[in-house]
Amino acid sequence: MNRDVIIACDFSSAAETYAFLDKFQDEKPFVKIGMELFYAEGPAIVREIKRRGHRIFLDLKLHDIPNTVKKSMSVLSRLDVDMCNLHAAGTIEMMKAALEGLTRPDGTRPLLIAVTQLTSTSEERMRNDLLIDHNINDVVVHYAKNAKVAGLDGVVCSPLEAGIVKEACGAEFMTVTPGIRFADGEVGDQVRITTPEKAREIGTDYIVVGRPITAAADPVAAYRRCMQEFAY
Ligand code: C5P
Repeated sequence: MNRDVIIACDFSSAAETYAFLDKFQDEKPFVKIGMELFYAEGPAIVREIKRRGHRIFLDLKLHDIPNTVKKSMSVLSRLDVDMCNLHAAGTIEMMKAALEGLTRPDGTRPLLIAVTQLTSTSEERMRNDLLIDHNINDVVVHYAKNAKVAGLDGVVCSPLEAGIVKEACGAEFMTVTPGIRFADGEVGDQVRITTPEKAREIGTDYIVVGRPITAAADPVAAYRRCMQEFAY
């Protein structure tokens, strides 16, 4: 298992992001770049963060027709990111096409994980707005199984769903979990949260941590605390 902490770099500009990353002198954390930063700064920011030696999870959550997703994944693969993602709702066919696009001529490829149901989607909204008339945990597990059938490496899910996903898809199927807070920290707008230590007990592979590190008075110390509690 590759247990690691991924820092969510939810900054709105390259300057802010580099100022944050410059604080890390002795380690090269795995970082997540989301839509806001990517759309603001483009592929150049991915290349620069890569050049600085960080591994990158490019969180763009693709969802389109299989051919478009395949071609877009091929572009992301050439950017040399380490992990990227899509919506499992795009169907098994779309996920298979994504994997094909992502695979480089030498057979290597970034890790590919799926979003099942966004944690912002409640069961009520899923039933009423999306007309999916099932228990939300069953939907998460079903989408995770589809991702596995398509050959993906894992899913993004809440830490509290990681256990049922592992049970349904096997221990090797990766779970990447946001919603992490220190036991004595601010909760902010996250609802279903857990601590790095508890995430380790649950057996998740990667935790995605934003504000507990980026907004800390000493981000390097907060990152080290996360690694200490989760990864070692
Ligand atoms: O600051 P915080 O630790 O809450 O950041 C969590 C990160 O994980 C953010 O980038 C957020 O967009 C992302 N995320 C999440 N819940 C999901 C999927 C992604 O919090 N279900």
